[in-house]
Amino acid sequence: MLETVSSLISPPLPAVWPRFAQPLRLGVMASGNGSNLEAIAASIQRGDLHGEIRVVVYNNPGAKVADRAARLGLPTVLLNHRQYASREALDEAIVNTLDTYGVDWVVMAGWMRCVTTRLIEAFPGRVLNIHPSLLPSFPGIRAVDQALAAGVKLAGCTVHQVELAVDSGPVVMQAAVPVKSDDTVNTLQARIQQQEHQLYPAAIALAAQQKFSQAQRF
Ligand code: GAR
Repeated sequence: MLETVSSLISPPLPAVWPRFAQPLRLGVMASGNGSNLEAIAASIQRGDLHGEIRVVVYNNPGAKVADRAARLGLPTVLLNHRQYASREALDEAIVNTLDTYGVDWVVMAGWMRCVTTRLIEAFPGRVLNIHPSLLPSFPGIRAVDQALAAGVKLAGCTVHQVELAVDSGPVVMQAAVPVKSDDTVNTLQARIQQQEHQLYPAAIALAAQQKFSQAQRF
C-alpha cells in the first residue's frame, strides 16, 4: 500500500536544539494575527529555541498580535506605517526601536510590508521571514490562493533570509504539505500554518547556528 506523506520538513527539525553563548535576542515584526509569534514564544518556553523575545513591533492598530504579545508579557511597539512619509522613514523607526530593545535577530512573522535596505543592512543576514509557499514559487500576497489556482499538488512554507525583493533571499528551511483535491484556501492555509509553527523556531535556531559557525571560520 502506498503511504501518504502528511508533511516533510527539510532540513529536519533538530533532535537536539543548539545552545548559544547567550539566548538569541529576537525582535518580532508582525501585522496581524500573531500565531507564529505565539509558536516561537512557546518553543522558547519549552526550552527548545534558546532565545528571548525582546520586543514585538506591529504596524496595524488593533492587530490581534498585540493582544497575544500582552498575554505573553512581551513589550509591544506600534509603528503605524500610515504615519511615516516613506518606507525608509518607517524602517528607520523600526531599526531604532529594535536597537533600543537590544535586538540581534529580526523575525518577520506575518509582516505584510516591503522592507528597505535600511533594515536589511542594519542586521546583515539576521532578518528572517516566513512565507506560506515553497519559494521561489508564489511570492507576494495570497500565496495560498496562488498555489490552489496553479493546481500544484504540494504546497508549504519557507523561512528565508530577507533580501530586497519581496519574499526573496537564501532559504533556511522549508516544509511541504500535500494539496488535497477538496482543499479550500482555508483548509490548505490551516495545514500550512501547522507546519509554520514547527518550522519557524527551528529555522531561527538553524540560521543562528549557521551564522555563528560562519563567523568562526574567519
Ligand atoms: C503566515 O502564514 C505567514 O506565512 C504569512 O502571514 C501569515 C501570518 O500568520 N506571511 C506572508 O504572507 C509574508 N509574505 P500569523 O500572523 O498567524 O503568524
